[in-house]
Amino acid sequence: MRGSGIVARWRSRLPVTARTPIVTLGEGDTPLVRADRAAAAAGKPAGSVWLKLEGCNPTGSFKDRGMALAVSKALEARATGVLCASTGNTSAAAAAYAARAGLRCVVFLPKGKVAAGKLAQAVMHGAEIVEVDGNFDQALTMAAETATKRGFVLVNSSNPFRIEGQKTGAFEVVEALGRAPAAHFMPVGNAGNITAYWRGYRELGTRPRMFGWQAAGAAPLVHGRPVRFPRTVATAIRIGNPVSWAQAVAARDESRGAIGAVTDAEILSAQRLLARAEGVFCEPASAAPLAGLLRLARAGRAPSGTVVCVLTGHGLKDPETAMKAKTKIRRVKAGGEFRL
Ligand code: F0G
Repeated sequence: MRGSGIVARWRSRLPVTARTPIVTLGEGDTPLVRADRAAAAAGKPAGSVWLKLEGCNPTGSFKDRGMALAVSKALEARATGVLCASTGNTSAAAAAYAARAGLRCVVFLPKGKVAAGKLAQAVMHGAEIVEVDGNFDQALTMAAETATKRGFVLVNSSNPFRIEGQKTGAFEVVEALGRAPAAHFMPVGNAGNITAYWRGYRELGTRPRMFGWQAAGAAPLVHGRPVRFPRTVATAIRIGNPVSWAQAVAARDESRGAIGAVTDAEILSAQRLLARAEGVFCEPASAAPLAGLLRLARAGRAPSGTVVCVLTGHGLKDPETAMKAKTKIRRVKAGGEFRL
């Protein structure tokens, strides 16, 4: 039997050898589902919008693809441990894969801005947690310096194995559709994932138009300069100075795509549409691509042809934001009759 996980599935396209100890939790092979109601909302025909459900990965986000490879390579290099800064998902994945590898894991988290589910994962997997009184960009500078000084492997997306692992998402999309989509929509924070998908598509000789979406209060790539105090409800992409800036711009320009911004209100409304009309619960950042598609549609500029939206993280990552959505709960005594 072939094992599960991205390395078993795509070994010949990944930088591993027979000596690499593969650390896997069975990541990858996530569903690509049709979203006809989302398509209708964007004025597009049935069968033209698809959702890649990366929340179905073992720790609930796309980070598992890159972390499987980064932690395998750290183990191969006999590292003392792994270290990262994170808005939450990277730390959850690092903590889980380090636990499986038997490595120490240290995570630098921006104070008060990490969603509850993600923090719970870092705690449960036994990561050593450092709360930074600052934003993600500042936490990343500290993490990089500490990693260099202490001989830990930095597993942020500046680690080339993270990008290599994450490019497998593009392979799966092309395999599932039988060809590349016309347009690929995804959220952009530190810009590692747009770099990875573009590389994956290029390695297959395909060139979908790449559309990246940032939150309006954290949109350095849209403004063309870093944002000192990034703000957004989508804490996963609350980043003001992306590490892979140049690569994101290259993906945009080489593919004749775009990087745009969507407001928090648009993000939350797209998150609700996905949950209520498609049955898919993703975290706020993951709704940014659909919010972007709807924004383009309103302006009469939605791309034609097949659109794939990557829903990067599971909705259960951020229960607090979800519980702020208005809903009516009726309270009754047990045992009585209830009329609907
Ligand atoms: N979506 C989710 C759910 C994320 O957690 C992230 C990044 C992104 C999108 C953006 O991806 O950074 O490659 O452009 N989260 C990182 C973290 C920063 O620390 O978990 P990107």
